[in-house]
Amino acid sequence: MCGIVGYVGTRDAASIVFDALCRLEYRGYDSAGIAVLDSSGICTAKRKGRLAELSPLVKTLPRAGQAIGHTRWATHGAPSDINSHPHCDCTGDIVLVHNGIIENHRELRERLIAGGHVMKTEVDTEVVAHLIEEKYRGDLAAAVAEAARELEGAMAIAVIHRGEPGRIVAYREKSPLIIGLGEGENFLASDIPAILPYTRKFLALNDGEIGVITEEGVAVYRLEKGSGANGLVKVGDRQPMVVDLEPEAAEKGGFDHFMLKEIFEQPEALMKAVSGRIRDGRVKFEEGEFGFSDEDVRALNKVYLLGCGTAYHACLVGKHLIERLAGIPAEAVLASEFRYMEPLIPERTLVIAVSQSGETLDTLAAVREAKERGAWRTLAVVNQPLSSLTREVDDVLYQRAGPEISVASTKAYTTQLVCLAMVACHMGFVRGRISEDQARAFGQELRNLPEKALGALEAAGLMERLAVEIAKEEDVFFIGRGADYLAVMEGQLKLKEISYIHAEAYAAGELKHGTLALIAPGVPVIACLMDPELAPKTASNVMEVKARGGWVVAIGSQECLNQLQLGEKDVLVTVPDVNPLISPVVSVIAMQLLAYYVARERGTDIDKPRNLAKSVTVE
Ligand code: F6R
Repeated sequence: MCGIVGYVGTRDAASIVFDALCRLEYRGYDSAGIAVLDSSGICTAKRKGRLAELSPLVKTLPRAGQAIGHTRWATHGAPSDINSHPHCDCTGDIVLVHNGIIENHRELRERLIAGGHVMKTEVDTEVVAHLIEEKYRGDLAAAVAEAARELEGAMAIAVIHRGEPGRIVAYREKSPLIIGLGEGENFLASDIPAILPYTRKFLALNDGEIGVITEEGVAVYRLEKGSGANGLVKVGDRQPMVVDLEPEAAEKGGFDHFMLKEIFEQPEALMKAVSGRIRDGRVKFEEGEFGFSDEDVRALNKVYLLGCGTAYHACLVGKHLIERLAGIPAEAVLASEFRYMEPLIPERTLVIAVSQSGETLDTLAAVREAKERGAWRTLAVVNQPLSSLTREVDDVLYQRAGPEISVASTKAYTTQLVCLAMVACHMGFVRGRISEDQARAFGQELRNLPEKALGALEAAGLMERLAVEIAKEEDVFFIGRGADYLAVMEGQLKLKEISYIHAEAYAAGELKHGTLALIAPGVPVIACLMDPELAPKTASNVMEVKARGGWVVAIGSQECLNQLQLGEKDVLVTVPDVNPLISPVVSVIAMQLLAYYVARERGTDIDKPRNLAKSVTVE
């Protein structure tokens, strides 16, 4: 995930910014850069790869008291020296770093180029530098404010201007940015751990705010249409917060474990996954990430979805979405089994490989097998930029979830679902299976997911209390129908891998075909009910469990849960209502939270569960 750092003061700014960037290494990145402003102008050093590769260049930068720096996690434009931040305008006077995604960068680029701007890269950030140049009339903060009004998307920006030494202008909209307060020096960072060794006093910028940071102090302005000069309104003194965290705790954003942090990052990750890909209400992929012409999409006969573990669970939902929305026969297969099943690959088959790491050997081997057997096209839904899988396939759709450090996958799963949903919706529209209105409505559903995920996170307190009881159990059953069955498959995996409790997921209708024999008084059953059409049937299965003395935890939308009649000990967990096709994105969050708190109750090593690794590079 991208990181921003800035420094103004009397010390060697380049060294401080480099050191601070190193403290963000754990978040993952593919390139980095630093710009220093001194009396002779702005000097920039940037490099693809690790910070160790940037280090020799940093030593050549002038020793001066002002610098901005960046670690990049590529979204627009491949990782390369030139695409790395900082980026500059035509004159080289305005230099900036940026986190997030500028959704309307294409339109702005066309307009600026028509106006005579020459751009050197495909990166959305470069457009921002040129836009600020267009607005600049001797006041950087005012130019940033004017530019910000035209920018759409999520962004945190730090800018310097050769003509305004000693000043960093920062802007935040839906992407974190904090100012660190020192004595005779001040700092800027996207994440507290970056600058924790230098200060413990912070000011957080809110969305729509501009910070002007100098050696002597910090001024914060709110961007408001039509009020004050340039619409900038000075924000009254804001009380700094004092952060009393050790660096390791700060890396976890104050959460006890990376897993919990990543669960809570899902609204932001989901927003990034759709950002710039749903335009004018419709799914429209960005250039170079979905290389299929409409003709190709119409020609498809079959889709295979391949993945392992959680990624396989995402494939199951993907199959469901592609068949329902696009009307193309689709099959989800465990990548580790694919080659042994001697798959039949009809003409014009698309193979979608799903993998957070992009390094899972079984998935790589399955893709190779599919190609050897004549797969027409291959597409990877992957989180890790530049991973091996991205080099094996024809097209890549990045999940943009940011680095997932906890072994148990959470935000990678939900962003995989959203990527697959976008693919299915686009295909469905192109093939005429869904109307323009239906495609727009579904696109809107996807755009609403971050908010729904936020709603699902409200279950945390209830799950924490419930975990005390579930943690005493040795067997837990999960049931659901349709997409709810697919969601509980992921829910049970979460519980078993981090709490070491034996858990099984069943299609609710299957209980009576065998598993019901295991339901004895007090056995916990987690039921998922997100689809009002299927809820009455699942509700009957819940009653079968109740009749045998089972203890039920029902996770679902209010409408579905209203159909249940439960006992005193049973628990209802209400999550936001959502289109049932994509409901696992929401319901799984409650199950992730339950798994987390149960594991915590049992005292397991949550981020590194026994016997498991984050990247499985053996067969
Ligand atoms: C479970 C989990 C694993 C991975 C699987 C595939 O929480 O993380 O099941 O999903 O090992 O990994 P990737 O997605 O990297 O191919």
